[in-house]
Amino acid sequence: MINMFEKNLQISESFKEDESIVLYHGSCLDLLSKIPDRSIQLIVTSPPYNIGKEYEKKLKLEKYLEQQKYVIQECERVLSENGSICWQVGNYVDNGSIIPLDTVLYPIFSNLGLVLRNRIIWHFEHGLHCSKRFSGRYESVIWFTRKIKNYVFNLDPVRIPQKYPGKKYFKGPKAGQYSCNPLGKNPGDVWDIPNVKSNHIEKTKHPCQFPVGLIERLILSMSNEDDWVFDPFVGTGTSIVAAIRNGRRGVGAEIEKKYVDISRRRIQEAVLGTLKVRPMNKPKYDPNISGNKLTEAPWEKKAQDQSIQPMLFENRGEHKSENR
Ligand SMILES: C[S@@+](CC[C@H](N)C(=O)[O-])C[C@H]1O[C@@H](n2cnc3c(N)ncnc32)[C@H](O)[C@@H]1O
Repeated sequence: MINMFEKNLQISESFKEDESIVLYHGSCLDLLSKIPDRSIQLIVTSPPYNIGKEYEKKLKLEKYLEQQKYVIQECERVLSENGSICWQVGNYVDNGSIIPLDTVLYPIFSNLGLVLRNRIIWHFEHGLHCSKRFSGRYESVIWFTRKIKNYVFNLDPVRIPQKYPGKKYFKGPKAGQYSCNPLGKNPGDVWDIPNVKSNHIEKTKHPCQFPVGLIERLILSMSNEDDWVFDPFVGTGTSIVAAIRNGRRGVGAEIEKKYVDISRRRIQEAVLGTLKVRPMNKPKYDPNISGNKLTEAPWEKKAQDQSIQPMLFENRGEHKSENR
């Protein structure tokens, strides 16, 4: 934890540039109206998806997009010169037809002159089991900056282990030197991070919180220490928590009191260092590595036990007789 938080552990209820943590109970548009132009380095959020979750009223798609446009316009106003906006969304579902929200939100960002840098696919395992289409197991993060070359992008803090760590050239003028970056590789644009469901260590009563590790990767790569990270739909405060854990300032708005209360508790625990968080690059649970035999297909197990190969070809008997 850096000194900034030793000096100021207060959670402020309104935005002031000399604060470190701001949690606003109310609409994000009201909070945004108090934030000065070009003062926020990273805006990261998951807005309501308009699919009828307990905290939203389902609107016609056009009306929903109009509301999102107001918020995105204001976000563009407060975005710093070399800053980033990350909008994390899934699908809008209408009568069994899906509309990927990033595709319909993209024109709003590009009409404001923002440039799409990545469309990150966030893959996870848990969710509704569909019976009339394949179950949805990914959402996306669309990442925009202004039309400049020197936007903040720090790759080193978010590198992940190489597939073959320590690999070196074995011939030629570079023989003996690393053929890969020894700090690790670029994590790419498909991120396999467990979503916060059932017995995830970070689970609260909110139906769709961010995993802290997902936001930490964005914060570490798109901002520097002391910068402001803003989440207009902060829910359980995950973006502020991830900001604090990495020495950034955090500001967010949440309209529902019960989620503001959860946010406040999580922020306090993050400041004290007692909040339980799944580490950013912790590998996913793998039933095979963990030796979970329940996942083994029973016929394969039977074949192994009896040291027999499954009968794959009908002419197996003929080969046998030829060999005699
Ligand atoms: C998808 S959830 C965000 C969850 C969050 N990413 C987290 O980690 O907990 C969207 C949140 O936006 C809140 N919300 C809806 N309209 C809002 C508004 N106008 N201003 C602020 N928050 C709002 C909802 O109550 C809900 O908690």
